[in-house]
Amino acid sequence: MIILVGYTSIEGQTRKIASAIAEQVEDRGHRAILFDVASMAEYALERPEAAILCAPVHGGRYPAPFFEFVRGERDWLNSVPSAFVSVSLMIVSDFTDERDEARHFADLLVAETGWTPREVAHVAGALRFTEYDFFKRWMVRRIAAKAPANEGAAGTADREFTDWREVALFVDGWLEKSMAYEP
Ligand SMILES: Cc1cc2nc3c(=O)[nH]c(=O)nc-3n(C[C@H](O)[C@H](O)[C@H](O)COP(=O)(O)O)c2cc1C
Repeated sequence: MIILVGYTSIEGQTRKIASAIAEQVEDRGHRAILFDVASMAEYALERPEAAILCAPVHGGRYPAPFFEFVRGERDWLNSVPSAFVSVSLMIVSDFTDERDEARHFADLLVAETGWTPREVAHVAGALRFTEYDFFKRWMVRRIAAKAPANEGAAGTADREFTDWREVALFVDGWLEKSMAYEP
């Protein structure tokens, strides 16, 4: 299958996740088109046969270019096997309501765009304090402070929370189901 691995990333972690997914897709014998949806470029001459899209939560929402891409491609996305990988920090919060809130962003995306991905994964992102400017550091410390599961969150240490094994299992499961997909 030709599979679109579309992503948007502000700080780089979602790009890293999408790249790992594209690599895995190719390892399993498919062709991956890794595509930054914010680039506004055409993503392929041939129409991909399936799509996995990845986006991070920033300030309580997915980046606007991602929303626009999903809205514009909704009909096509709904006609092929698709999956969504939502990247956030709150998904590893100790508090149920915060984890629920992180999950809710994906529900909102579905409600607001009409795209209904067959599978949704909620994946933890990363904190990269050393790369943030003052405002971002301040904002992220406020978010991280609410999530005590994130040791180091109260401080300013860079840390990757992404569970790579979980991502790989999700992708393999989705690929398996997508191969059996009948539109
Ligand atoms: C400025 C900023 C705002 C963020 N806002 C949220 C948020 O509202 N909820 C959340 O769960 N995570 C939030 N995060 C955590 C990001 O989802 C996490 O850092 C992710 O890895 C970012 O993905 P990216 O590197 O692809 O941009 C925020 C991170 C930054 C830097």
